[in-house]
Amino acid sequence: MVWKEVKGMRRIEIFDTTLRDGEQSPGVALNADEKLQIAHQLSKLGVNVLEAGFPIASPGDFEGVRRIAQEVRNVSVAALARANAKDIERAWEAISGAESPRIHTFIATSPIHMLYKLQKSPDDVLEQAIQAVRLAKSKVSDIEFSAEDASRSDVDFLAKVFSGVIQAGATVLNIPDTVGYATPEEYAAFLQSIMERTVGIEKVKVSVHCHNDLGLAVANSLAAVGVGVHQLECTVNGIGERAGNAALEELVMALHTRKDQFNVETSIVTAEIARTSQLVSRLTGMMIQHNKAIVGKNAFAHESGIHQDGMLKERSTYEIMSPSVIGIDVESIVLGKHSGRHAVQQRLADLGLNLEEGRFEELFSRFKLLADRKKEVTTSDLFSLADEQKEKTDLINLDYLQVSSGTHLVPTATVGLMFQGQRLADAACGDGPVDAAFKAIDKVLGTQGELIHYSLQALDGGEDAQGEVTVSVKFGENLVAGRGVSTDIIEASVRGYLQAVNRAFSRGWIEILEKNES
Ligand code: KIV
Ligand code: ZN
Repeated sequence: MVWKEVKGMRRIEIFDTTLRDGEQSPGVALNADEKLQIAHQLSKLGVNVLEAGFPIASPGDFEGVRRIAQEVRNVSVAALARANAKDIERAWEAISGAESPRIHTFIATSPIHMLYKLQKSPDDVLEQAIQAVRLAKSKVSDIEFSAEDASRSDVDFLAKVFSGVIQAGATVLNIPDTVGYATPEEYAAFLQSIMERTVGIEKVKVSVHCHNDLGLAVANSLAAVGVGVHQLECTVNGIGERAGNAALEELVMALHTRKDQFNVETSIVTAEIARTSQLVSRLTGMMIQHNKAIVGKNAFAHESGIHQDGMLKERSTYEIMSPSVIGIDVESIVLGKHSGRHAVQQRLADLGLNLEEGRFEELFSRFKLLADRKKEVTTSDLFSLADEQKEKTDLINLDYLQVSSGTHLVPTATVGLMFQGQRLADAACGDGPVDAAFKAIDKVLGTQGELIHYSLQALDGGEDAQGEVTVSVKFGENLVAGRGVSTDIIEASVRGYLQAVNRAFSRGWIEILEKNES
C-alpha cells in the first residue's frame, strides 16, 4: 500500500479480517465468488492487509483464499494457520500466488486455554510457537504470530513466547483480546508491559485484535493506538465471532475525525466506506442495525425539530463528520422509467458496479421492469439488480411462485424451481403464505430447512420501496443466511430462502433429491 505522507503523523496499518474472523459469524457462509468480490472492494478501500481465510478449514475456504491471492492486487494477503505443519503448508499453498503474502499463525497462551483446550504445558506451547514460525519463515518472509487469548495470559510468559518467535522470524506480533474481556486502560498497560519485556520488539510490528463481547473492541483498539501499536485488526460492520470484532469504519473514522487526539493516519479511502459496508451486509446477510455508528441508516439522520433547525442554520451544530466523507452522496439525477441506457450505465459506473461484457443489457431490461413497478429506482435497488445477476450462477433458481392466502383461506403456495435444467414444482400449505412457500421449496428439493430468523424491512424510505428479507436457516447442524429483495414481500422471502438453500448446497451441507420433471 502506498502511503501519502502527512507531516508529523504516525502511520497505522489496517488489517482487515472480514473474510476470516467476520466469516466466522454464525450464519455467514460466503462462496468463493462472493469472497472475491468483497476482497476487490477491500483493496479499493485501501486496507493494508486482507486476511482472506483459514485454508485448512475446508476446500471452499482454501479455494476462496487461493483465488483472492491470485487475483487481488495492491494489498497484502494473509492466510490463517494454527501453529502446526499441516495448517502452515496448506496456508502457504493457498497464498503463494499473492503479490505480498503473509502467513498468520497462532497458538493460545493463557493458562485457561493451555490447560483445558490445548492440554499442553507452557514450555510445549513455547516450543510449538517457535517451530511453527520457523516453518512459516522457510516459505515466506512476512509472518504474523498471534498469541490467542493474549489479554488473559501471564505477561512474563507471553513476553518469552514473543521473544522466541521474533528470533524465529516473526515480523508482526498480534496481542488479541480474544474474548473481549479487557478494558481500555488495563489493555493499554498490558500492551506496554509486553513491549517493555519482549526482546527484539523494535524489529517487528505490534498488532491488536479486539473482540466486542463487552462493547469495548473499538475503545480497546484506540487505547492501543495510544501506546504506539502499528496495526489494528478489524472487520467491516464489526462482524465476527460472537459479538464480533472492532468495526473498521468506527476505528478509521475515529482516527480520521479526531486526528487531534490520536495523531495517526491510515491509508483507508474513506469515501469507499459506505459502499464496502453495504456490500458486506448484502453478501453476508448480516443486517446493519439502524443506529450503528458511521454506517447505520440513522447515523446521519436528524429527527428532532431542534436538531433540524440547527442543521439548516449550520451543519456543524449537530454533524461531526460529513456523510460525503464516507461516500454517502445525495443523488442529483433520479432514475425511473424514463431513464435511458446512458443514465443507468453512468450511475452503475459511479457506484463502482462494473458489469461483465454483455450483462448490462440484461440488467437494463430488469431495471425497466422494476421502474414500471416503482416510481424511483434507488442506489439500493441498483445494487440488488446487480446482485440478482450474480445469483444467475446459483444452481437452484426461482421459476415461478403462486400463493393464496386470506382471512378464510388455508395459506397455500406453489413454487416452480429450475435445477440442473429441469423445472421442478410442488405445493404446500403453511401457517402463512411465507411459511407455505418455504415448505413448498423444501418439498420440491427434498430438503428440511429450519427457519431460525426472519426479518423484513423496506430497502429504502418511500412508500413504493422494495421489501428486503433476510433469513437464517438451519440445515442439520449448519446455519446459513440468505437475503432476497422484491417489490413483492413473499417473493423477497422466497428469494432469501433460496439463497440460503444455494449456499448450503454449494457447501455440500444438503443433497437435492432426484425428481421427475414437472
Ligand atoms: O480472536 C483471536 O484471538 C483470533 C486469533 C486467531 C487472531 O481470531
Ligand atoms: Zn478473533
